[in-house]
Amino acid sequence: MNNPKRYTITAALPYANGPLHIGHMAGVYIPADIYVKYLRLRKKDVLFVCGTDEHGAAITLKAKKDGVSPQKIVDAYYGIIDRSFKDFGIDFDIFHRTSTPVHHETAQAFFLKLIEKDTFEVRESEQYFDEEAGQFLADRYITGTCPKCGHDGAYGDQCENCGSTLSPIELIDPKSTLSGTKPVLRKTSHWFLPLNKHEDWLRDWLENGKLNGSQQHDPAAWKRQVIGQCKSWIDGGLQPRAMTRDLDWGVKVPLENADGKVLYVWLDAPIGYISATKAWAEKNGKDWEPYWKGEDIKMVHFLAKDNIVFHCIIFPTLLKEHGEFNLPDNVPANEFLNLEGKKISTSRNWAVWLHEYMEDFPGREDELRYVLNAIAPEFRDSEFTWADYQSRVNNELVAILGNFVNRTLVLTHKFFDGKTPGAQSHLLKEMGRTDGSEEILAVRREMEKTIESYRFREAQSALMSLARFGNKLLTETEPWKLAKESKEKAGAVLNLCLQITANISILGMPFLPFTCGRLIKLLGIEEMDWDRSGNTDLLPEGHAINTPELLFKRVEDEEVAAQLEKLRRDDDQPKNTEHMPQKETVAFDDFMKMDIRTATILEAERVPKTDKLLKLQLDTGLDKRTVVSGIAEYYAPEDLPGKKVSVLMNLAPRKIRGVESQGMILMAEDETGRLSFVQPGDEAPNGSYVK
Ligand code: MF3
Ligand code: ZN
Repeated sequence: MNNPKRYTITAALPYANGPLHIGHMAGVYIPADIYVKYLRLRKKDVLFVCGTDEHGAAITLKAKKDGVSPQKIVDAYYGIIDRSFKDFGIDFDIFHRTSTPVHHETAQAFFLKLIEKDTFEVRESEQYFDEEAGQFLADRYITGTCPKCGHDGAYGDQCENCGSTLSPIELIDPKSTLSGTKPVLRKTSHWFLPLNKHEDWLRDWLENGKLNGSQQHDPAAWKRQVIGQCKSWIDGGLQPRAMTRDLDWGVKVPLENADGKVLYVWLDAPIGYISATKAWAEKNGKDWEPYWKGEDIKMVHFLAKDNIVFHCIIFPTLLKEHGEFNLPDNVPANEFLNLEGKKISTSRNWAVWLHEYMEDFPGREDELRYVLNAIAPEFRDSEFTWADYQSRVNNELVAILGNFVNRTLVLTHKFFDGKTPGAQSHLLKEMGRTDGSEEILAVRREMEKTIESYRFREAQSALMSLARFGNKLLTETEPWKLAKESKEKAGAVLNLCLQITANISILGMPFLPFTCGRLIKLLGIEEMDWDRSGNTDLLPEGHAINTPELLFKRVEDEEVAAQLEKLRRDDDQPKNTEHMPQKETVAFDDFMKMDIRTATILEAERVPKTDKLLKLQLDTGLDKRTVVSGIAEYYAPEDLPGKKVSVLMNLAPRKIRGVESQGMILMAEDETGRLSFVQPGDEAPNGSYVK
């Protein structure tokens, strides 16, 4: 949409069941905040909403684990999460909660409207019920073996190993996490959203940007992986999905004969964006509807890849059925951030927590913002390591940006008494240099282009290129020497350096808000709009600047070592064997039914468009065969040929992402989910039985 009148920007509502970590920030909140800060600097009418997601099994599970009420959990984490966002300068117009009355009312009214429109099909179905706990089990309360990859410990809604979306009925050997018993199927009725009936328009909307025949968004502006993920969902056939649950925590189904039923958390949570808008409007004497209804709104949802289906398929279907709301213009979802070689895991405490970072690195929030944006998983999974954090802070923020600004300010004090010297472009020219205006403008334009296409990493590099340009100018002209021959020439250089610094204070604001705030004070100026940037006349001649102070501190080796030590210490805690209990007893004969043999990997390649899967050719002694294995996160295909492995030969062949897998490679999985081969010794030729 060109020139929208309003921007409605949402960031996924974090579950109020734990504090925030760097993965949340890099995946969702920093990109969203950069985009919003940029729009605000451009004087756009933008509303940025978020809040905590306080319903669903994520919350009740945590409450159960801690032995307190769900209300206690959400109250505690709302505060912690809200604090972290404020600490890191994430600038929501409102940070709301889905437990508020306005949210419950909004979600119920929305649901009733859909009832009126006959959107749902009421279906009686069989659901797992825990007889010992006396309740129906939410998908997350059931674990079992994944029917797709064989991973043991898949949840009723999703296998974290292969990423497949599941329904609890598909799990092999289901178990209730409440009592550990095998759940039984019981009849219950629910309101289902028949997504299967919506495939055609969804496809047209996602792939062509068309809605009801008119162009609603530009699919070329969407990330390929987002459309790709949706397309593969639709290609696989959409299934009706229950929009209500048998639970006592959540938004009550506002109908008679619906006792004990609440709205599905993924129905209620996105409506949280709307209720947050209402609460904001109420508080600020504004009208909420113009941000959700009408032609001239650009709505962008920021989130991570596990939320794509909810925002690109389910929520749009609900919005369209409701009939009054706009659909998003874009959903620039990010992939995942890993930490020091492993998946970030809240339950296993493998994370860098924001509140702990604040304690360990007070006043250094921008450093984390900078690094997380520099490595944000914009198009593929990426990784945070403390060594990389250190090197980016020291070699980029300190050595380039901080150094440039500091040299500029110090030299201005030393040679010009802290007063901005006059611009002298003819002198610069005489020295064989440009007056810098084109270069600065080019950076601004590049930043606009990249930010508007959600490529915030590139935008930040462009910003840094401006500091590099300034540094180079100083190094090559050496104004500290020049000042002795020609004060005018030194002044010409420093004027340009000061103008660059002033430009950085504007262009850098979306990325380094705290630093730019300090820069503005150092320069003795007011905050300026984006539109002033790209100019070399931001500081008039004679303008006094303040006493320089360093913008960034180096990260010392000891600090990195301490962080690594902390991670490992937590990781070395006695293993929480709750995660890996012994499985049920099996009869010897049952075990002997498995044909496990030694084999050698001949070839390995990635299964296209998957993050985790490798397609392997094996020499099993008996034959050559293909096996698909979910190990791509841990092994590079080029390292595999020649490796000896153990393989379950007589597992029923299964099609995985279009590839027939004839067997399963045995892997050892530790508590963190890390996989490694179970390898036979060299004495066992291919085809030896493992028993
Ligand atoms: N709480 C969900 C999660 O953390 C995200 C909810 S986004 C919303 O994955 F749109 F539903 F609010
Ligand atoms: Zn799986």
